[in-house]
Amino acid sequence: METIPKTMRALVQLEDGYSGKSEGPVISDAALYLAEAEIPVPTPEKGQVLIKLRIASVNPSDLHFIKGEYGQPRRKGAPVGFEGCGDVVAAGKGAERLIGKRVAFAVSLGGSGAWAEYALTDAVACIPLRSDVSDVNGSAQIVNPLTAMAMVDIAAKDGDAFVISAATSQLGKLIISLAKDMNLKVIALVRRADAVTPLKAMGATEVLVTTASGFSDQFSVASRALKPRVFLDAVSDQICETVFTLMPNNARWVSYGKLGTEAPRLTQMGQLIFMGKRIEGFWLTNWMRSTPPADQARVAGEVQARFADGRWNTDVSASLRLKEVIEGLADATKLTDGKVVIIP
Ligand SMILES: NC(=O)c1ccc[n+]([C@@H]2O[C@H](COP(=O)([O-])OP(=O)(O)OC[C@H]3O[C@@H](n4cnc5c(N)ncnc54)[C@H](OP(=O)(O)O)[C@@H]3O)[C@@H](O)[C@H]2O)c1
Repeated sequence: METIPKTMRALVQLEDGYSGKSEGPVISDAALYLAEAEIPVPTPEKGQVLIKLRIASVNPSDLHFIKGEYGQPRRKGAPVGFEGCGDVVAAGKGAERLIGKRVAFAVSLGGSGAWAEYALTDAVACIPLRSDVSDVNGSAQIVNPLTAMAMVDIAAKDGDAFVISAATSQLGKLIISLAKDMNLKVIALVRRADAVTPLKAMGATEVLVTTASGFSDQFSVASRALKPRVFLDAVSDQICETVFTLMPNNARWVSYGKLGTEAPRLTQMGQLIFMGKRIEGFWLTNWMRSTPPADQARVAGEVQARFADGRWNTDVSASLRLKEVIEGLADATKLTDGKVVIIP
């Protein structure tokens, strides 16, 4: 049995609560929000597990959270980091079955963050990993993959074509390859022309560059041809509003990310009234609260199978040691085409 130390290194919040701002998941200096600290290793309560970290991933939600722009308040002095992969080294009552298991985990409310030597979460927020899934893929197994599965399911129930924005994101790529396997057509929106060829090769039906002149006309043509009814949108800016107005009757604009720094202005309210169009949100946390455990387990199993056989993979753009995060996070998150990961 592994000896658990009394204290651990962790990256902790400098602020409490919300910032009241909505600047997006971009940071200029991690030291504005985080500090490295030696703090007590948390003790698992009933239903919780203590996990010795192997790898944590850095998601846009982490950056929103440390800036005070996420769906839950910050806690000053508490470790951050929503997702990772590690070994369960201790458990509270009812969670003992996980001791010794290598798991993918998401940090539940009341837990202790993954950007630390040890993390604490609910046993139900852990997925025991198959031996053929790597630690890196384990560290990004929940937030994006479950969201991809849940959102493609939403789109598939509403026709055979849909639109996604920020298609070069890790989540965008998971969605494109899943849609291809399900014979769904995807209109992928990107902001860089050099992303067109690789995303087409991955299976996107159309890849349109939002910054190109003539984008609206090109989208209009694609929309009339493919008749997409769902727009899965991670950017949520004015261009996205234009896209929504160019979609057919009964189209749904599903905002699930705020990568855009300026909120959109609604220009065609009549479309909501007369064309049956709808604007809604998607948050994985709510999906987890509302989806029966058996269905979640089935989806998690499918996710693991896709990583195990190579249909999905986590691209890594930079790897930081815990002690390098304060200094290196801002620059590392400027790199595109992959996740930043943190190792203890
Ligand atoms: N609601 C939920 O439950 C949920 C769950 C998971 C993820 N998400 C959201 O999903 C999104 C993608 O997450 P991820 O982990 O896949 O991100 P990621 O891999 O870090 O990728 C971010 C991508 O977004 C693009 N981008 C950034 N700012 C943009 C802007 N203003 N306009 C257009 N494109 C922009 C970048 O494109 P370039 O390649 O052009 O630089 C980059 O490829 C995030 O918004 C995240 O918060 C939401």
